[in-house]
Amino acid sequence: MIVLGIETSCDETGIALYDSARGLIGHVLHSQVELHAEYGGVVPELASRDHIRYLSPLIQQLLAETGLRLQQLDGIAYTAGPGLIGALMSGAALGRALAWSLGIPALEVHHMEGHLLAPMLEHRPPAFPFIALLVSGGHTLLAEVTGVGEYRLMGQSLDDAAGEAFDKTAKIMGLGYPGGPALAKLAEQGRREVWRFPRPMTDRPGLDFSFSGLKTFALTTLQNLDTSASDYQQQLADVARAFEDAVVDTLVIKSERALREAEAQRLVIAGGVGANLHLREQLAVMVQRHDAELFYPRIEFCTDNGAMIAHVGCLRLLAGETQPLQIAARARWSMEDLRAPEQVEK
Ligand code: KG4
Ligand code: ZN
Repeated sequence: MIVLGIETSCDETGIALYDSARGLIGHVLHSQVELHAEYGGVVPELASRDHIRYLSPLIQQLLAETGLRLQQLDGIAYTAGPGLIGALMSGAALGRALAWSLGIPALEVHHMEGHLLAPMLEHRPPAFPFIALLVSGGHTLLAEVTGVGEYRLMGQSLDDAAGEAFDKTAKIMGLGYPGGPALAKLAEQGRREVWRFPRPMTDRPGLDFSFSGLKTFALTTLQNLDTSASDYQQQLADVARAFEDAVVDTLVIKSERALREAEAQRLVIAGGVGANLHLREQLAVMVQRHDAELFYPRIEFCTDNGAMIAHVGCLRLLAGETQPLQIAARARWSMEDLRAPEQVEK
Protein backbone atom coordinates (compact mmCIF):
# COMPACT_ATOMS: atom_id res chain seq x y z
CA MET A 1 0.00 0.00 0.00
CA ILE A 2 1.41 3.40 -1.02
CA VAL A 3 0.27 6.39 1.05
CA LEU A 4 0.84 10.07 0.41
CA GLY A 5 1.36 12.04 3.64
CA ILE A 6 0.63 15.74 4.02
CA GLU A 7 1.81 17.83 7.00
CA THR A 8 0.68 21.46 7.31
CA SER A 9 0.03 21.97 11.03
CA CYS A 10 2.34 24.94 11.51
CA ASP A 11 5.20 26.49 9.54
CA GLU A 12 6.43 23.56 7.48
CA THR A 13 4.85 22.01 4.40
CA GLY A 14 5.89 18.34 4.46
CA ILE A 15 5.02 15.78 1.81
CA ALA A 16 6.04 12.11 1.79
CA LEU A 17 5.33 8.75 0.22
CA TYR A 18 5.31 5.65 2.41
CA ASP A 19 5.01 2.11 1.11
CA SER A 20 3.90 -0.63 3.51
CA ALA A 21 6.26 -3.07 1.78
CA ARG A 22 9.31 -0.87 1.14
CA GLY A 23 9.04 1.75 3.88
CA LEU A 24 9.64 5.42 3.18
CA ILE A 25 9.92 6.06 -0.57
CA GLY A 26 10.67 9.77 -0.46
CA HIS A 27 9.89 13.05 1.24
CA VAL A 28 10.16 16.79 0.61
CA LEU A 29 9.86 19.74 2.95
CA HIS A 30 9.35 23.45 2.50
CA SER A 31 10.18 25.52 5.57
CA GLN A 32 8.50 28.90 6.13
CA VAL A 33 11.20 30.11 8.52
CA GLU A 34 12.26 33.01 6.28
CA LEU A 35 8.66 34.08 5.77
CA HIS A 36 7.99 34.45 9.50
CA ALA A 37 11.47 35.52 10.67
CA GLU A 38 10.86 39.25 10.24
CA TYR A 39 7.80 39.02 12.55
CA GLY A 40 9.69 37.11 15.26
CA GLY A 41 7.20 34.21 15.21
CA VAL A 42 4.66 32.34 13.10
CA VAL A 43 1.94 34.53 11.53
CA PRO A 44 -0.97 32.07 11.12
CA GLU A 45 -2.57 33.67 8.07
CA LEU A 46 0.74 33.85 6.20
CA ALA A 47 1.36 30.21 7.12
CA SER A 48 -1.97 29.08 5.61
CA ARG A 49 -1.37 30.98 2.38
CA ASP A 50 2.12 29.62 2.00
CA HIS A 51 0.92 26.03 2.48
CA ILE A 52 -1.63 26.57 -0.29
CA ARG A 53 1.10 27.97 -2.53
CA TYR A 54 3.48 25.03 -2.03
CA LEU A 55 1.27 21.96 -1.54
CA SER A 56 0.58 21.03 -5.17
CA PRO A 57 4.08 21.84 -6.50
CA LEU A 58 5.67 19.78 -3.71
CA ILE A 59 3.42 16.79 -4.40
CA GLN A 60 4.29 17.01 -8.10
CA GLN A 61 7.99 17.35 -7.27
CA LEU A 62 7.94 14.26 -5.04
CA LEU A 63 6.07 12.17 -7.61
CA ALA A 64 8.59 13.22 -10.27
CA GLU A 65 11.54 12.43 -7.99
CA THR A 66 10.21 8.98 -7.09
CA GLY A 67 8.88 8.13 -10.57
CA LEU A 68 5.38 7.48 -9.26
CA ARG A 69 2.03 8.60 -10.64
CA LEU A 70 -0.98 9.81 -8.65
CA GLN A 71 -2.89 6.76 -9.89
CA GLN A 72 -0.48 4.49 -8.01
CA LEU A 73 -1.50 5.91 -4.64
CA ASP A 74 -3.64 3.72 -2.38
CA GLY A 75 -4.46 6.36 0.21
CA ILE A 76 -3.78 9.87 1.46
CA ALA A 77 -3.07 10.85 5.06
CA TYR A 78 -3.07 14.42 6.29
CA THR A 79 -2.49 16.13 9.63
CA ALA A 80 -5.90 17.12 11.02
CA GLY A 81 -4.66 18.57 14.33
CA PRO A 82 -3.54 19.81 16.71
CA GLY A 83 -2.12 22.96 15.11
CA LEU A 84 -3.03 26.25 13.47
CA ILE A 85 -6.56 25.84 12.16
CA GLY A 86 -6.05 27.63 8.82
CA ALA A 87 -2.81 25.80 8.15
CA LEU A 88 -4.44 22.47 8.98
CA MET A 89 -7.44 23.22 6.77
CA SER A 90 -5.23 23.85 3.72
CA GLY A 91 -3.71 20.36 3.94
CA ALA A 92 -7.02 18.72 4.92
CA ALA A 93 -8.91 20.24 2.00
CA LEU A 94 -6.30 19.27 -0.54
CA GLY A 95 -5.80 15.77 0.89
CA ARG A 96 -9.49 14.96 1.09
CA ALA A 97 -10.29 16.41 -2.36
CA LEU A 98 -7.37 14.69 -4.06
CA ALA A 99 -8.30 11.35 -2.50
CA TRP A 100 -11.92 11.76 -3.57
CA SER A 101 -10.90 12.57 -7.15
CA LEU A 102 -8.69 9.47 -7.24
CA GLY A 103 -11.31 7.25 -5.61
CA ILE A 104 -9.01 6.29 -2.73
CA PRO A 105 -9.44 6.69 1.06
CA ALA A 106 -8.16 9.70 2.96
CA LEU A 107 -7.36 9.62 6.67
CA GLU A 108 -6.94 12.30 9.34
CA VAL A 109 -3.72 11.88 11.31
CA HIS A 110 -2.99 13.24 14.78
CA HIS A 111 0.18 15.33 14.56
CA MET A 112 1.54 14.08 17.88
CA GLU A 113 0.90 10.46 16.99
CA GLY A 114 2.98 11.17 13.88
CA HIS A 115 5.86 12.42 16.07
CA LEU A 116 5.44 9.61 18.57
CA LEU A 117 5.77 6.81 16.01
CA ALA A 118 8.45 8.57 13.89
CA PRO A 119 11.29 6.48 15.45
CA MET A 120 9.69 3.49 13.69
CA LEU A 121 10.81 5.02 10.38
CA GLU A 122 14.41 4.18 11.26
CA HIS A 123 16.43 1.01 10.56
CA ARG A 124 16.22 -0.14 14.17
CA PRO A 125 12.57 0.53 15.06
CA PRO A 126 11.46 0.20 18.69
CA ALA A 127 9.13 -2.70 19.52
CA PHE A 128 6.02 -2.11 21.63
CA PRO A 129 5.67 -1.46 24.51
CA PHE A 130 7.79 1.64 25.08
CA ILE A 131 7.80 4.90 27.00
CA ALA A 132 7.66 7.96 24.77
CA LEU A 133 9.03 11.34 25.72
CA LEU A 134 7.33 13.70 23.32
CA VAL A 135 8.88 17.15 23.36
CA SER A 136 7.74 19.61 20.72
CA GLY A 137 6.93 23.30 20.42
CA GLY A 138 3.32 22.78 21.46
CA HIS A 139 3.43 19.75 23.75
CA THR A 140 5.57 18.00 26.32
CA LEU A 141 4.38 14.65 27.59
CA LEU A 142 5.35 11.19 28.74
CA ALA A 143 3.20 8.29 27.55
CA GLU A 144 3.23 4.54 27.79
CA VAL A 145 2.76 3.16 24.29
CA THR A 146 1.52 -0.41 23.95
CA GLY A 147 0.42 -0.28 20.29
CA VAL A 148 -0.79 2.04 17.54
CA GLY A 149 -3.46 4.22 19.15
CA GLU A 150 -2.81 2.75 22.60
CA TYR A 151 -1.39 5.63 24.59
CA ARG A 152 -1.51 6.02 28.35
CA LEU A 153 -0.67 9.57 29.30
CA MET A 154 1.69 9.51 32.29
CA GLY A 155 2.50 13.20 32.60
CA GLN A 156 2.46 16.46 30.66
CA SER A 157 3.39 20.10 30.84
CA LEU A 158 1.07 22.19 32.97
CA ASP A 159 2.16 25.38 31.20
CA ASP A 160 4.82 25.99 28.50
CA ALA A 161 5.96 23.04 26.40
CA ALA A 162 9.73 22.42 26.42
CA GLY A 163 10.13 23.78 22.86
CA GLU A 164 8.01 26.79 23.72
CA ALA A 165 10.24 27.47 26.73
CA PHE A 166 13.31 27.26 24.46
CA ASP A 167 11.69 29.64 21.95
CA LYS A 168 10.51 32.18 24.52
CA THR A 169 13.84 32.23 26.35
CA ALA A 170 15.66 32.60 23.01
CA LYS A 171 13.45 35.57 22.21
CA ILE A 172 14.27 37.20 25.57
CA MET A 173 17.94 36.66 24.75
CA GLY A 174 17.53 38.34 21.38
CA LEU A 175 18.17 35.16 19.39
CA GLY A 176 15.12 35.66 17.16
CA TYR A 177 12.92 33.00 15.59
CA PRO A 178 13.13 30.04 15.47
CA GLY A 179 14.85 30.30 18.81
CA GLY A 180 15.24 26.73 20.09
CA PRO A 181 18.05 25.61 17.80
CA ALA A 182 19.81 29.01 18.14
CA LEU A 183 19.72 28.80 21.93
CA ALA A 184 21.02 25.22 21.85
CA LYS A 185 23.90 26.36 19.60
CA LEU A 186 24.80 29.23 21.93
CA ALA A 187 24.64 26.88 24.94
CA GLU A 188 27.46 24.82 23.40
CA GLN A 189 29.81 27.72 24.17
CA GLY A 190 28.45 28.14 27.70
CA ARG A 191 30.26 26.97 30.83
CA ARG A 192 28.59 24.53 33.20
CA GLU A 193 27.37 25.62 36.63
CA VAL A 194 28.16 29.32 36.21
CA TRP A 195 24.47 29.69 36.95
CA ARG A 196 22.19 27.04 38.36
CA PHE A 197 18.54 27.20 37.35
CA PRO A 198 15.89 25.11 39.18
CA ARG A 199 14.73 21.72 37.89
CA PRO A 200 10.97 22.44 38.13
CA MET A 201 8.69 19.89 39.81
CA THR A 202 11.41 17.30 40.29
CA ASP A 203 11.36 17.58 44.08
CA ARG A 204 7.88 16.06 44.30
CA PRO A 205 6.37 12.84 42.95
CA GLY A 206 4.59 12.76 39.62
CA LEU A 207 5.43 13.08 35.96
CA ASP A 208 4.03 16.50 35.06
CA PHE A 209 6.25 19.34 33.90
CA SER A 210 6.29 23.11 34.33
CA PHE A 211 8.77 25.09 32.25
CA SER A 212 7.32 28.60 32.25
CA GLY A 213 9.27 29.68 35.36
CA LEU A 214 12.60 29.00 33.64
CA LYS A 215 12.20 31.83 31.16
CA THR A 216 11.55 34.23 34.04
CA PHE A 217 14.66 32.86 35.73
CA ALA A 218 16.62 33.47 32.53
CA LEU A 219 15.22 37.01 32.27
CA THR A 220 16.18 37.90 35.86
CA THR A 221 19.67 36.47 35.34
CA LEU A 222 20.11 38.43 32.11
CA GLN A 223 19.01 41.66 33.79
CA ASN A 224 21.90 41.29 36.22
CA LEU A 225 24.51 40.96 33.48
CA ASP A 226 26.69 43.91 32.51
CA THR A 227 25.95 44.43 28.81
CA SER A 228 29.12 46.52 28.39
CA ALA A 229 31.41 43.81 29.80
CA SER A 230 34.01 42.58 27.33
CA ASP A 231 32.96 38.96 27.94
CA TYR A 232 29.24 39.68 27.58
CA GLN A 233 28.87 37.10 24.78
CA GLN A 234 30.42 34.45 27.03
CA GLN A 235 28.06 35.40 29.84
CA LEU A 236 25.13 35.13 27.47
CA ALA A 237 26.28 31.67 26.46
CA ASP A 238 26.56 30.73 30.15
CA VAL A 239 22.92 31.68 30.69
CA ALA A 240 21.90 29.65 27.61
CA ARG A 241 23.82 26.71 29.04
CA ALA A 242 22.18 27.04 32.46
CA PHE A 243 18.75 27.12 30.84
CA GLU A 244 19.42 24.13 28.57
CA ASP A 245 20.91 22.10 31.43
CA ALA A 246 17.81 22.76 33.54
CA VAL A 247 15.39 21.65 30.80
CA VAL A 248 17.48 18.61 29.88
CA ASP A 249 17.98 17.49 33.50
CA THR A 250 14.26 17.86 34.19
CA LEU A 251 13.31 15.81 31.13
CA VAL A 252 15.86 13.13 32.04
CA ILE A 253 14.71 12.90 35.68
CA LYS A 254 11.05 12.52 34.66
CA SER A 255 11.81 10.03 31.87
CA GLU A 256 13.77 7.93 34.33
CA ARG A 257 10.81 7.99 36.71
CA ALA A 258 8.44 6.94 33.91
CA LEU A 259 10.72 4.04 32.89
CA ARG A 260 10.83 2.84 36.48
CA GLU A 261 7.11 3.30 37.10
CA ALA A 262 6.11 1.33 33.98
CA GLU A 263 9.00 -1.14 34.36
CA ALA A 264 9.76 -0.45 30.71
CA GLN A 265 12.85 -1.45 28.76
CA ARG A 266 12.60 1.06 25.91
CA LEU A 267 12.50 4.84 25.77
CA VAL A 268 11.62 6.78 22.64
CA ILE A 269 12.28 10.52 22.15
CA ALA A 270 10.25 12.38 19.56
CA GLY A 271 9.32 15.94 18.62
CA GLY A 272 11.40 19.01 17.78
CA VAL A 273 13.31 19.23 21.08
CA GLY A 274 14.35 15.62 20.45
CA ALA A 275 16.81 17.18 17.98
CA ASN A 276 18.70 18.59 20.96
CA LEU A 277 22.01 16.72 21.11
CA HIS A 278 22.58 17.40 24.79
CA LEU A 279 19.19 15.86 25.61
CA ARG A 280 20.00 12.79 23.50
CA GLU A 281 23.37 12.37 25.24
CA GLN A 282 21.96 12.66 28.75
CA LEU A 283 19.06 10.29 28.03
CA ALA A 284 21.53 7.76 26.60
CA VAL A 285 23.52 7.83 29.84
CA MET A 286 20.35 7.44 31.91
CA VAL A 287 18.91 4.46 29.96
CA GLN A 288 22.25 2.69 30.22
CA ARG A 289 21.93 2.77 34.00
CA HIS A 290 18.64 0.89 33.59
CA ASP A 291 19.84 -1.57 30.98
CA ALA A 292 17.17 -0.07 28.76
CA GLU A 293 17.35 1.04 25.12
CA LEU A 294 16.94 4.51 23.62
CA PHE A 295 15.34 5.20 20.24
CA TYR A 296 14.93 8.42 18.31
CA PRO A 297 14.25 9.50 14.75
CA ARG A 298 16.95 11.12 12.60
CA ILE A 299 17.14 14.88 13.27
CA GLU A 300 15.02 15.87 10.24
CA PHE A 301 12.20 13.60 11.45
CA CYS A 302 12.28 15.07 14.98
CA THR A 303 10.91 18.35 13.69
CA ASP A 304 7.76 18.54 11.55
CA ASN A 305 7.77 16.45 8.37
CA GLY A 306 5.47 14.59 6.02
CA ALA A 307 7.11 11.18 6.52
CA MET A 308 5.68 10.70 10.00
CA ILE A 309 2.18 11.47 8.73
CA ALA A 310 2.42 9.12 5.72
CA HIS A 311 3.74 6.42 8.08
CA VAL A 312 0.88 6.65 10.62
CA GLY A 313 -1.66 6.96 7.79
CA CYS A 314 -0.34 3.78 6.20
CA LEU A 315 -0.43 1.83 9.51
CA ARG A 316 -4.03 2.88 10.16
CA LEU A 317 -5.29 2.41 6.59
CA LEU A 318 -3.70 -1.05 6.47
CA ALA A 319 -5.50 -1.92 9.70
CA GLY A 320 -8.75 -1.07 7.94
CA GLU A 321 -9.53 2.32 9.44
CA THR A 322 -11.91 4.44 7.35
CA GLN A 323 -13.45 7.88 7.79
CA PRO A 324 -16.43 9.74 6.34
CA LEU A 325 -15.89 12.24 3.52
CA GLN A 326 -15.98 15.35 5.71
CA ILE A 327 -13.09 17.80 5.77
CA ALA A 328 -12.34 18.57 9.41
CA ALA A 329 -9.41 19.91 11.36
CA ARG A 330 -8.92 20.47 15.08
CA ALA A 331 -6.76 23.18 16.62
CA ARG A 332 -6.89 21.23 19.90
CA TRP A 333 -6.99 17.46 20.01
CA SER A 334 -6.09 15.28 22.99
CA MET A 335 -4.09 12.20 22.15
CA GLU A 336 -6.16 10.31 24.70
CA ASP A 337 -9.09 10.54 22.25
CA LEU A 338 -7.23 8.24 19.86
CA ARG A 339 -8.22 4.59 19.52
CA ALA A 340 -6.52 1.57 18.02
CA PRO A 341 -7.42 1.37 14.28
CA GLU A 342 -9.64 -1.71 14.82
CA GLN A 343 -11.63 0.11 17.47
CA VAL A 344 -12.36 3.27 15.49
CA GLU A 345 -16.13 3.45 14.82
CA LYS A 346 -16.99 3.05 11.17
O1 KG4 B 1 7.92 19.13 16.70
P1 KG4 B 1 8.18 20.50 16.19
O2 KG4 B 1 8.91 20.65 14.88
O3 KG4 B 1 6.86 21.32 16.06
C1 KG4 B 1 5.78 21.16 16.91
O4 KG4 B 1 5.00 20.19 16.70
O5 KG4 B 1 5.69 21.99 17.84
O6 KG4 B 1 8.99 21.23 17.34
C2 KG4 B 1 9.47 22.51 17.21
C3 KG4 B 1 10.12 22.91 18.51
C4 KG4 B 1 10.44 24.39 18.56
O7 KG4 B 1 9.99 24.89 19.79
C5 KG4 B 1 11.96 24.43 18.46
O8 KG4 B 1 12.52 25.53 19.10
C6 KG4 B 1 12.35 23.13 19.12
O9 KG4 B 1 11.36 22.21 18.68
N1 KG4 B 1 13.70 22.68 18.72
C7 KG4 B 1 14.74 22.59 19.58
C8 KG4 B 1 15.84 22.15 18.81
N2 KG4 B 1 15.43 21.99 17.52
C9 KG4 B 1 14.11 22.31 17.49
N3 KG4 B 1 14.82 22.83 20.89
C10 KG4 B 1 16.02 22.62 21.49
N4 KG4 B 1 17.12 22.21 20.83
C11 KG4 B 1 17.09 21.96 19.50
N5 KG4 B 1 18.20 21.55 18.88
ZN1 ZN C 1 5.41 18.91 15.46
